[in-house]
Amino acid sequence: MQQWSEKAYAKVNLTLDVQGKRPDGYHDLRMLMQTVSLCDTVTLTATGGEGLRVTSDLEYLPTGEKNLAGMAALAFFRHIGRPAKGVSLHIRKEIPVCAGLGGGSADAAAVLRLLNRVYGTGLSAARLEEMAAEVGSDVPFCVRGGTRLAEGRGERLTDVSPLPPCHVVLCKPPYTVSTGAAFARWGGARSAARPDLRGALAALAESDLRGLARFLYNVLEDVLPVAASDVAHIRGALMDAGALGVVMSGSGPTVLGLCDDAQRAGAAGEALRGQYKETFVCEAVGEV
Ligand code: C5P
Repeated sequence: MQQWSEKAYAKVNLTLDVQGKRPDGYHDLRMLMQTVSLCDTVTLTATGGEGLRVTSDLEYLPTGEKNLAGMAALAFFRHIGRPAKGVSLHIRKEIPVCAGLGGGSADAAAVLRLLNRVYGTGLSAARLEEMAAEVGSDVPFCVRGGTRLAEGRGERLTDVSPLPPCHVVLCKPPYTVSTGAAFARWGGARSAARPDLRGALAALAESDLRGLARFLYNVLEDVLPVAASDVAHIRGALMDAGALGVVMSGSGPTVLGLCDDAQRAGAAGEALRGQYKETFVCEAVGEV
């Protein structure tokens, strides 16, 4: 049977601001997002006549149409007007789940790219992003990735100057954070401090990694539960290890540190891995 594979890269939030609550219960966001090299792998097998199958190597993840990857496949087939069958998708997970790294969204976006390639449909990235918006908030960004500003629920994407090449240390405490609970804690409280997006964009325009590192900021980090004290601990450890700047990604609990030096990034990873086994040293990745 013929097989094709596609990498599904994790995303991090360099900045995250909540603009307010929407009538549909979701929140409007403004986020500077970045793709990193930590990735899952999605493999498509052509099965002939059978229905759509979606599996992963983590048995507790939803399968079939309940998985975001399955929803993405259904959206794709609906848009091209073909029955959703004859395809089996398997996801090899590397990206920690419920970690603020957009793993499920990355898998869904990879499915859209993969089906577009395998079926030779030649749909533009913009068209795939429209389908992606039906699947989940972070999926449109994950279609092309790179460095982008995402607004609304994440579906309004604007090109920005790319992050200069750098190393990204990711460290996840040994628990997960519910996205819904994180937004409920924010509760319209409007943080006193907000990300300085203008400053961050100016630093990006000048390829100034050190400058950008000063502007990393996520308002959801201000409303973490007391029990999530590891986030502050990891922050401190990454800065002590020489990271230029640190911030929590998405609704957490993963913390990322930006480094301009491979050796320092490696040492930071080493220092944290003893305590937190879900520690990864990776790189910023441009458009997929
Ligand atoms: O995107 P996802 O379905 O994973 O989000 C889970 C929950 O987080 C939503 O049901 C909603 O309560 C909250 N959320 C939000 N605003 C967003 C994204 C998520 O309020 N932009």
